Amino acid sequence: MSKTIIVSNRLPVKVLKKNDGELVYKPSEGGLATGLGSIYKKGNNLWVGWPGRFFKKKDKKLEAKKKLESQNMKPVFLAQEEITLYYEGFSNETLWPNFHYFNQYALYRKSYWDAYEKVNQKFCDEILSELEPGDKVWVHDYQLMLVPQMIRERKPDVSVGFFLHIPFPSFEVFRLLPWRRQLLDGVLGSDLIGFHTYDDMRHFLSAVSRICYISNHHGQIQKDRRTVVTDSFPIGIDYDKYASQAAHPETLKREVEYRTSLGDQKLILSIDRLDYSKGIPARLQIFDIFLKKYPQYQGKVSLMMVVVPSRDSVEKYKDLKEEVDLLVGRINGKYGTVNWTPIHYFYRSFPLEDLSAFYRMADVAMVTPMRDGMNLVCKEYVASKLDQTGVLILSEMAGASKELSDALIVNPNDKHQVVDAIYRALTMTEEEQKKHISIMQKTLKKFNIHHWVSLFLGKLDDVTRKRDELA
Ligand code: UDP
Ligand code: G6P
Repeated sequence: MSKTIIVSNRLPVKVLKKNDGELVYKPSEGGLATGLGSIYKKGNNLWVGWPGRFFKKKDKKLEAKKKLESQNMKPVFLAQEEITLYYEGFSNETLWPNFHYFNQYALYRKSYWDAYEKVNQKFCDEILSELEPGDKVWVHDYQLMLVPQMIRERKPDVSVGFFLHIPFPSFEVFRLLPWRRQLLDGVLGSDLIGFHTYDDMRHFLSAVSRICYISNHHGQIQKDRRTVVTDSFPIGIDYDKYASQAAHPETLKREVEYRTSLGDQKLILSIDRLDYSKGIPARLQIFDIFLKKYPQYQGKVSLMMVVVPSRDSVEKYKDLKEEVDLLVGRINGKYGTVNWTPIHYFYRSFPLEDLSAFYRMADVAMVTPMRDGMNLVCKEYVASKLDQTGVLILSEMAGASKELSDALIVNPNDKHQVVDAIYRALTMTEEEQKKHISIMQKTLKKFNIHHWVSLFLGKLDDVTRKRDELA
């Protein structure tokens, strides 16, 4: 039976080491891992990726390999230098800032690029060692943009799909990358290239036209006598998983427990990885302005802010952590009283039972990234609202805003607009809340993660079939 090989930099499970040396396996955070997490176990599918740590000892490496392989995962082990130069370096200090329009943070270093090429080749070799006739390969995200063409060179007939989970920037920003041509050529090794939004796809096609001088016809590109198809496929969530978790007795128990200790207050929720693209400092400043502008809410509303540690060896992420700590301290010091804490701040990740309780408890969710490929947190919030009350404030810079037009859509740079959106959210009638949440739930239920996977893989099959018929 043929299989689908899913490939991403990070496996959906990360390996941690306890102080006594024992290895523990935890679900990875981030949209890609949580989104595809329920899919790869099907049949004899396989997920190829990095287990998230450097293994010094051979026996521990072998132990992790065995364990992961027993769960349909093939680990790609990276040396410490590769982690520094390829993962922290080119992926997260070059591509991530450029693609999220934070170009002032981008570093252009030849050593980063060399490591990126080398590690992409390493991933390609791992894939080829698993590839059997009839298999298809589905490569994910910006860390592995060269892999499709590397596979194509060695196996010209294999069916390869690529999906980008982050924004594709406009040509004027993308062109700043010294390796822009190689990156495009790498991705164009695919049969099908997917983006979250039509705008991302449009930006990609414009870059291909202006850098590779290849025009497109309705999103199709002719490259080396092959047709490469591009399309937008907004990723969904495992709707039933979030809805049923919200109804689970353990979630209800935790909700009661947390609610009791918080007291009778309105709750605004914010959940993100620690990342400058998420607009966390701006969100804190907005909350500060809100408390000043609407003092009647002092003592009546709290912000619950979950910040999940991420990429903490990268300089800009370390700086951001300090900035957030400082702002939280300043606001709590300025407004806090003996019986009211304005911001409940958690710098760690939580298991699904807690996240689900937070989603249920929150009167308002503030999802205000400066730039985000999609953003799944806002979708999970809506799916968890079983009684359909609650309000979502959503940045127009998140891919999700294209689908969730029933949210209060804001520009995160317009702080006063967001402040007023908070006021509007807190004063919205239950009837109106239910109207908006129920419309969004319908969309999310229909366009769920299963729909997304079958749409992408179905299209990949079509494209490959047509390609083979013409050969
Ligand atoms: N998440 C998690 N543990 C936490 C907080 C968040 O697993 O403590 C998950 C969250 O449920 C969501 C993902 O991390 O599925 C974040 O995805 P999103 O698309 O919002 O942002 P990304 O991190 O991919 O940029
Ligand atoms: C985003 C990216 C993913 C990445 C995740 C977590 O969702 O699109 O590719 O895995 O962030 O980041 P990390 O660097 O910890 O893998």
